[in-house]
Amino acid sequence: MCGIVGYLGKNGAEKVILEGLKRLEYRGYDSSGIAMHSGSELKIAKFKGRLANLSDYLTENPGNSPVAIGHTRWATHGEPSDANSHPHFNTTKTIAVVHNGIIENYHSLKNELSEKGYTFSSETDTETIPHLIDSFYEGDLLSAVVKTVPLLRGSFAIAVVCADKKEIVAARKESPMVIGVGDNNDFFVASDVLAVLSYTKKFYYPENNDIIRITENGVEFFDASGSPVTRELKTVELSADAATKCGYDHFMLKEIYEQPDSCANTVSRYCSGDEIQLDFGSIKNMAAYDTIYIVACGTAYHAGLVGKLALEKYVKIPTTVDIASEFRYYAPFVNEKSLVILISQSGETADTLATLRNAKAAGATVLSITNVAGSTIARESDDVINTAAGPEIAVASTKAFTSQITALFLLAIYLGKQLGNISDEEYSFLMSELHLIPEKIREVLADMSSVKAAAKRIKKCNQLFYIGRGLDRVIAMEGALKLKEISYIYTEAFPAGEMKHGPIALIEPGTPAIALVTQESAAEKTISNIKELKARGAYVIAIANTSLEELRKTVDFVIEVPDAEGILAAIPAIIPCQSLAYYTSIYKGNDVDKPRNLAKSVTVE
Ligand code: G6P
Repeated sequence: MCGIVGYLGKNGAEKVILEGLKRLEYRGYDSSGIAMHSGSELKIAKFKGRLANLSDYLTENPGNSPVAIGHTRWATHGEPSDANSHPHFNTTKTIAVVHNGIIENYHSLKNELSEKGYTFSSETDTETIPHLIDSFYEGDLLSAVVKTVPLLRGSFAIAVVCADKKEIVAARKESPMVIGVGDNNDFFVASDVLAVLSYTKKFYYPENNDIIRITENGVEFFDASGSPVTRELKTVELSADAATKCGYDHFMLKEIYEQPDSCANTVSRYCSGDEIQLDFGSIKNMAAYDTIYIVACGTAYHAGLVGKLALEKYVKIPTTVDIASEFRYYAPFVNEKSLVILISQSGETADTLATLRNAKAAGATVLSITNVAGSTIARESDDVINTAAGPEIAVASTKAFTSQITALFLLAIYLGKQLGNISDEEYSFLMSELHLIPEKIREVLADMSSVKAAAKRIKKCNQLFYIGRGLDRVIAMEGALKLKEISYIYTEAFPAGEMKHGPIALIEPGTPAIALVTQESAAEKTISNIKELKARGAYVIAIANTSLEELRKTVDFVIEVPDAEGILAAIPAIIPCQSLAYYTSIYKGNDVDKPRNLAKSVTVE
């Protein structure tokens, strides 16, 4: 999604903005731009396409501005084009705005402004903002923004500069934004800390509806009515390395290889020896809940499907798993007896956040599992489990997924033990199995030769099917998502037993299918389903840890993975699926870390 970087200080704003925007590229974008303070005017440059276009412009037109705001845009209103790129400006180009989010009432605002004589040069919702600010501007940018913000409906983070003064005024409602404070009286605005982590580790996290003024004298916070408020400056623990590739060709590859550590760190964050320490403030008595609702989007939704299996097994409370963009509009039974578990890597996904607020309004308790401490979802939840995956930059989520499964496993056995559903002996066994996971991931990562061979085989195909039963079906769903996201091969996952009820009609001689076979209890049946595909000419690759002999006779190719207890089996098994997507994408010449049309953090509905 869109990225914002703003800078006020003496280090040359152009350089800081460009570097910051580069670090935000991972969020997904299709154009970029900058507005720079230059004497008593604003210089604005913006281009469709890669950031290199803006970078080339700034190389040819070097500057050393004291104040600038920059933006990477992910198109929502209006196609990617120079005109639709941010910053947007008022008619006289004396006020410039960058914006993340959506202004839902932009249509009526545009009509009102047009009637007053304002003309528009883009198709965006954002362009209403500089015109509105212009209509209130009488020499004080802050008060013009304070008057503008209540007129905007929707979610937004904005940063505004004007030609008259060296200052940045920013505001946020629902969308994330941080304010960084450097050591040399320099200040930053950004959509996330990664953008400016190489300059500072000290950040303010503005509250919803805050308005912020940054000048040479410092940072001031105001509430929606314009009254001063105080916010706390915090220090983040992340190293600037967290946002670099550290020698890997791509962030995705780095993140795949980080999984032994990200899983181990998630365990050690919440365990002292074998004792799980999830000291919840709100979840006290599980007997108070009759239903658990897990709600998430994308990869996090798949982690939820895995987690359900452990929660139902150990906590023994009926658990449903839903996609947030559906659940937020249809959840008739959520009430004070509901425990709603939200899973979100970023902690900012708009639909998941809306679910959180609806669930709280219905009286439910909300527990979130996020990877970004201090994210909006983490802040607004009753209780939080923070996965310790570290920043995930690649759009295709990998280490967040395995950390989420780790956290869900910890949660399930922690609650199961509390409820007396797990004996001490079983608990010790489950913990010892959990501690083995990092080594099992390393084992898979140590030899990628069969994954690479499979990637070469499938790179030219037009469609591919993943199949599996039970837990294997969920791994198949996540494997299919990875492959479609970055290889652009049309991939679907089906329950193995469902193929014959329709999808098998799509199998032609040579059609590739990937079968997950990690559950001994389902292996025999899955092998029968594989035989049905083979009989119709499918080329079948198995990712398996059981029935290996039988599979070798049946399928074209076996990728062997280590066995693991219960839902933990999903962790070693997803590694070849992630890696297969990675190498297939590489062999096809795709941009792995920035797949077309996708965004990392989806802060619009
Ligand atoms: C986007 C990303 C996915 C991610 C999903 C949910 O679609 O491209 O990789 O799984 O959002 O994101 P969240 O941050 O809520 O886990």
